[in-house]
Amino acid sequence: MAIETSCDDTCAAVIDGSRILSNLVSSQAAFHERYGGVVPEVASRHHLELVNAVVAAALDEAGTNLAEVDQIAVTQGPGLIGALLVGLSTAKALAAAHRKPLVPVDHLHGHVAANFLEPDPLEPPFLCLIASGGHTLLAGVRDESGFEVIGQTLDDAAGEAFDKGARLLGLGYPGGPAIQKAAEVGDPEAFEFPVAMSGKGLDFSFSGLKTALVYKVRDLGPEEIERRTGDLAASYQQAITGQLLAKLRRAAQTGEWPAIALGGGVAANAELRGGTQSLCNELGLRLKLVPISLCTDNAAMIASAARYTQGIAYPDYLSFDAFGTERRPLRAA
Ligand code: KG4
Ligand code: ZN
Repeated sequence: MAIETSCDDTCAAVIDGSRILSNLVSSQAAFHERYGGVVPEVASRHHLELVNAVVAAALDEAGTNLAEVDQIAVTQGPGLIGALLVGLSTAKALAAAHRKPLVPVDHLHGHVAANFLEPDPLEPPFLCLIASGGHTLLAGVRDESGFEVIGQTLDDAAGEAFDKGARLLGLGYPGGPAIQKAAEVGDPEAFEFPVAMSGKGLDFSFSGLKTALVYKVRDLGPEEIERRTGDLAASYQQAITGQLLAKLRRAAQTGEWPAIALGGGVAANAELRGGTQSLCNELGLRLKLVPISLCTDNAAMIASAARYTQGIAYPDYLSFDAFGTERRPLRAA
């Protein structure tokens, strides 16, 4: 059984091997929508109210109970520290009450491990692009137990760029789906946005792009923005996905990785999916796209990562803490 509360979704799941028995997500999106983004304190409070019911429902749907599960896994970080602590404290308490081992899981390892679940699990080695509201990184996956960070954002996450862009264009929250929808009737070549970091390594940067949109919005004025929302959305979207695809291409061209997988909420983006498919066709690579429900934050992916993570026996985990932003290497560099 696994619990995930690193951001604004309260999640619990039960798996048996690589088979998902239940995977529940209680979304708090409606509570955060009015603020145009996730408010950490609001997220923590809602997790506290929801977590016990979500765990109970996940166990129920899986037809099991805590006495029967082998171990309890939980996201230890990175994420919103208050939100993480609700999940970690709950997992510790449940594990301790039943004298079960606890498995602390790295959230990003979870996104990678979504690919190991049924149906059609993907075997390493593969390249995994994880792009969400909180993180953007390229993971080189050589075995199930971890990953190597081969590129990551130096500032904002790709999903954050979508969310902030949508807010500037008055398109609402979450921004990714709103921009994708508006872009359907727009011309991606209508406006020029800088494609950052195009010549440099495998790292990403999105803050300059967001600033470029701020200036564009200021220069155009409200009427012109409304008239050309589709063009702005399409051009802005192309600048984000263009950067993601350029880095993916550069990493894939080393010939080291026979397959590419996408994870995180931004993996729902049609432009990114289509572009990655074309890249895979061109380079003769396999493309693995898990269902959207496994791309966005969920607890089944945390349970999956836990299968390849050392569990800790009772009571040694009682002093364990969550980590917010610190990137702990999963393997020696
Ligand atoms: O993985 P996720 O549900 O939560 C975390 O941030 O961890 O990702 C949410 C992010 C948001 O920034 C949202 O705007 C973005 O994923 N997103 C999309 C699309 N659907 C969700 N971005 C671009 N295109 C989409 N269709
Ligand atoms: Zn995530």
